[in-house]
Amino acid sequence: MGIRILGTGSYLPPKVVTNDDIAKSLDTSDEWIFSHTGIHSRHVAGEGETTSTMAAEAARRAMDAAGVKPEEIGLIVVATSTPDYNPFPATACVVQSLLGCSGAGAFDLQAACSGFIYALEQARGFVNFYPDRKALVIGAECLTRILDWTDRSSCILFGDGAGAVVLGNDEPPGVASTKTTAHTILGADGKGAHFITREGGTRIPLPLEPSGIPGKPEPAVSSLTLMGHDVFVFAVKTLSKVAGDLCARLGTTPETLDRVFAHQANGRIIEATARRMKLPLEKFWLNLQTTANTSAASVPISLDQAVRSGALKDGMKIVMVGFGAGLTYAGTYCEWPNL
Ligand code: UT7
Repeated sequence: MGIRILGTGSYLPPKVVTNDDIAKSLDTSDEWIFSHTGIHSRHVAGEGETTSTMAAEAARRAMDAAGVKPEEIGLIVVATSTPDYNPFPATACVVQSLLGCSGAGAFDLQAACSGFIYALEQARGFVNFYPDRKALVIGAECLTRILDWTDRSSCILFGDGAGAVVLGNDEPPGVASTKTTAHTILGADGKGAHFITREGGTRIPLPLEPSGIPGKPEPAVSSLTLMGHDVFVFAVKTLSKVAGDLCARLGTTPETLDRVFAHQANGRIIEATARRMKLPLEKFWLNLQTTANTSAASVPISLDQAVRSGALKDGMKIVMVGFGAGLTYAGTYCEWPNL
């Protein structure tokens, strides 16, 4: 069988904020938001909920589905742009403790909305060489805490949540990768790094003290900024190209795909991608009406919903594809659940 996704899980906080709720305090409307994005509502983390608590709950559900115990997990990768701490300790370490996966390696991966697919590729390498251990790959975000809720062009787009998968391998070390049917593209275009940002890093120099040592840093509190139109254009071009390139590498064409799991940023981006790929929209998983954009969590939440609803069945040929701040992009072709 080789490397496989053994189970999926997801978590969306119970609190829901609708477009109408936002329109009570901002010059916007459900009509504008839905017609420009396809979003009606989003889940928002409640009191006591953080990226790590949502990640841990999604992971518990994935481990239950996989029948895997905490002590079998050898690696936890959390893809997130909204870690509990900024930037350390890694959210993955907090998750490791919440789950009781003692001794498992744990690190965060930051590739924005493409992060889950990047993380899946790292974990695939791990289980290829350590088949006696399982890997947890989680995409988790608490984006509503880094938004400027007075900026109508960005705050309407995002929501909170987490998705997770458990990876396993039943081949001897290194053998699975020679038999794999999965293909992955990881890429970036750093020229667009300023398209989606959140300030607070060391790029901003602190004033030097007379001694030449930088002064005491202020706690970094800043919100997400977005050049929405530029990202939109990049996304439409990139999603169809990555998915098309994956099919071309395999000597096949997009028509042979059963389902596409594209990052849920904007329904219009997904519709344009479907048109470019000459695929019916029905092949694309769509949940952003009620989740909005959950960044790194969007693809694993979609996978879990599709598995649990019976829409994603063993043997289906699928592509997962994403794009995000960086600008990053990533895609994986696989015959579910084999990687
Ligand atoms: O996952 C990666 C991060 N995601 C993204 O970056 C999302 C990609 N971009 C998009 O989804 C779209 O570009 C947006 C939904 C953000 C914006 O849609 P748009 O069709 O590109 O609108 P726009 O930014 O060109 O704005 C058009 C008008 C502007 O008014 P004026 O200047 O024409 O008078 C905006 O001020 O719409 C106005 N506008 C709004 N009006 C009501 C922007 N946001 C809103 C709003 N409600 N929420």
